[in-house]
Amino acid sequence: MTSTNDIRRSFLDYFGSAGHTIVPSAPLVPYNDPTLMFVNAGMVPFKNVFTGLESRPEPRATSSQKCVRAGGKHNDLDNVGYTARHHTFFEMLGNFSFGDYFKEQAITHAWTLLTRDWALPKDKLLVTVYHTDDEAFALWQKIAGLPEDRIIRIPTKDNFWAMGDDGPCGPCSEIFYDHGDHIWGGPPGSAEEDGDRFIEIWNLVFMQFEQTAGEITGNLPKPSIDTGMGLERISAVMQGVHDNYDTDTFKALIAASESLTGVKAEGDHQASHRVIADHLRSTSFLLADGVLPSNEGRGYVLRRIMRRAMRHAHLLGAKDPLMHRLVPALITEMGQAYPELGRAQPLIEETLQREEVQFRRTLANGLKLLDEATGEMGEGAELPGDVAFKLYDTYGFPFDLTEDALRSRGIGIDRDGYDAAMAQQKAAARAAWKGSGQAADGEVWFDIAERVGATEFTGYSATTGEAQVVALVKDGQEVESATVGDRVSVIVNQTPFYGESGGQMGDAGTITGAGGLKLAVSDTAKPLGRLHAHDAVVEAGSIKLGDVVRLDIDVARRDAIRANHSATHLLHAALRNRLGGHVTQKGSLVAPDRFRFDFSQPTALSAEDIAAIEAEVNAEIRANDPVSTRLMSPDDAIEAGAMALFGEKYGDEVRVLSMGRTSDKPYSVELCGGTHVRALGDIGIFRIVSESAVSSGVRRIEALTGEGARQWLIHREDALKNAASLLKTTPDDVETRVAALLDERRKLERELAEAKKALALGGGSSKAEAADEEIGGVRFSGQVLDGLDPRDLRGLLDSAKQRMGSGVAAIVAVNEGKASIAAAVTDDLVGTISAVDLVRAGVEALGGKGGGGRPDMAQGGGPDGDKASDAIAAVKAVLAG
Ligand code: ALA
Repeated sequence: MTSTNDIRRSFLDYFGSAGHTIVPSAPLVPYNDPTLMFVNAGMVPFKNVFTGLESRPEPRATSSQKCVRAGGKHNDLDNVGYTARHHTFFEMLGNFSFGDYFKEQAITHAWTLLTRDWALPKDKLLVTVYHTDDEAFALWQKIAGLPEDRIIRIPTKDNFWAMGDDGPCGPCSEIFYDHGDHIWGGPPGSAEEDGDRFIEIWNLVFMQFEQTAGEITGNLPKPSIDTGMGLERISAVMQGVHDNYDTDTFKALIAASESLTGVKAEGDHQASHRVIADHLRSTSFLLADGVLPSNEGRGYVLRRIMRRAMRHAHLLGAKDPLMHRLVPALITEMGQAYPELGRAQPLIEETLQREEVQFRRTLANGLKLLDEATGEMGEGAELPGDVAFKLYDTYGFPFDLTEDALRSRGIGIDRDGYDAAMAQQKAAARAAWKGSGQAADGEVWFDIAERVGATEFTGYSATTGEAQVVALVKDGQEVESATVGDRVSVIVNQTPFYGESGGQMGDAGTITGAGGLKLAVSDTAKPLGRLHAHDAVVEAGSIKLGDVVRLDIDVARRDAIRANHSATHLLHAALRNRLGGHVTQKGSLVAPDRFRFDFSQPTALSAEDIAAIEAEVNAEIRANDPVSTRLMSPDDAIEAGAMALFGEKYGDEVRVLSMGRTSDKPYSVELCGGTHVRALGDIGIFRIVSESAVSSGVRRIEALTGEGARQWLIHREDALKNAASLLKTTPDDVETRVAALLDERRKLERELAEAKKALALGGGSSKAEAADEEIGGVRFSGQVLDGLDPRDLRGLLDSAKQRMGSGVAAIVAVNEGKASIAAAVTDDLVGTISAVDLVRAGVEALGGKGGGGRPDMAQGGGPDGDKASDAIAAVKAVLAG
């Protein structure tokens, strides 16, 4: 028997030696086509090569492409397991000519491989051509020698292949295998064509045209070839079986599932084993290609497939989670051809196990509800829609899983009732949101989210990608298009742009498209926590709904954000290590150029604390451990030591970020939806630039990393160098030099004060005497002294009293704009004049209040140093009475 692995190899080798480059399968998530959920044909990765948008160095290629058909138009999910040839995952073998050979060689190759190399009996083969394609008809006669009755003209779309409403297309010719007259069915085009006797095994597409919105809009640059042969079908043919599930790969997977459950694949159990085998392949390959279970988009399709398989494991009576234990068998069968399976084995097993544990928790309750609701029902009855909705909403049963569960009893579901219950819940959510008093123009986001669903975020792994425009919002209103100069929020179906959340700022970048379209995205918001709204200005061209655009984030900016975000996690751990477990995050802002981190802590951090924390974080960075991301249930995450983040809402699954290592456990474990560095060394340097209080019990650290920190350090170094050059010394000596200068300055200040005092004393009593005045029969000396230390006022006034023998003296000392005033009265006059009254008048003139002391000596002050002479005048006025 020829194994499936041999058939795949032999196909690739045949075309390899016929001048085709053997191209490895592209990942299942098509980053070159925003309109497709998963790669669903071998030509998808080459789509842009056919249309001339992209070029490849070689004109011929061959591949065995992983495909998934389980969502959107080709939803095969319901049938899988119950028929011989429906799969969610399959491999498509193909050979491609990009403007090189055309019909004749394509037919020659197909016929040679099938009948010469693989020795399929010629009389078991027949073909179809598009009804107007005389050329292909004649070639089949010439090359294969097929009689006219085995070349069937088909006038329908079955023989005109297109990958979707948009893209390359052309007439095709299909090769059928006759499994024998013991099976019911007729040749293609006959009344019995839906039977299982004649099975299509290979489709040769003569790619010639390009279509837009289902209409042919032009010719491809050059006629090309795309072919597709389902590996599972050809294996069945070559292994002499009729049913794909009887081929070697499936038999091995089903045997593994039989042995782990102890239940034979017979009778009612056969479909369950088949569902499990098929879904094991699609879920494992999707996980290996980076799709993770979620409640939206691709992740939701994956979850639906998983849950369907898990329900069948339950039907088989499996007591414990089953799916993850089947992964080794899958890797034995397919790991050599697809090494990504082996690489992702831990992730696949862990995710399958977690999902199954989680699902089992609700499965029993959900099934009980279902049993109660359908207990009395007979065949042909309908389950009320609101019950199906409750199963979905409360127990996580996707609609098709409930459908599948009721199928064997012939019970349907009231779909309208289900849709109505769903609509009602959405309306209630909207009403609750409105009641929360959020911005009125936010309602536009509700409309959009309901219509188009959540934006799928591809930016954990990608920084660029294509997408389809699903909504445009200008000035708070939805619009159909926008043009140069317009500022719009652009919503697409999938985006690598992170929308601001969890403290991390949104991404910036560009959106480009056909006709020179260019938008500059300055920020990305995340309204309702589900939509990614790109805040953009149209710089060239115009954008409209339905456009396919290319999105590129500003990678350098994002890398700086990543470094800062990861550093907040390290800082959080370092703070707890140094200060204690009372430290918890109270908020953060992660920008490209800096970050700030608020945390609970009653007192300021000492310089030693800051230095120690900074050193610890930098040591973790230098250790350069990889950063790991896993999905877990919130409970498991908290058990694993995760610190829950402030203000985040958690769903039934959380992302858990682990960083660094201390002995046997990670240095930091946190729940976080943000984007992070791949390894800690990417952070570069970490530098705390400030520590302050935000409110009582909450402190804030501002810090820099990477290039930002380097620039900051350079800036400091430059400042030091400039200071050194001003001081005419080297940076190393700046400190000693400044200390010496400060000493010198203190000394000079002292000397200056002394000199001023000496000056105030008049440099000789005769000169001062000459300045004395006579007011109201009393001798008066008044002076204003700039820079006089107020502590010297008393001494100076005592000297003045002595000099005068009998009289009144007042001095105003002005320092840094403020003034102090003191007045003294000789003993003989104390009974008639009070120094306190004089000073009060002076203080008032200086813009101050009060002043006091004793009748012979009083002092006060005021803020208006420039009113010093007014103060002396005021004293004189009191004296004058
Ligand atoms: N692209 C063609 C198909 O998928 C070959 O059938």
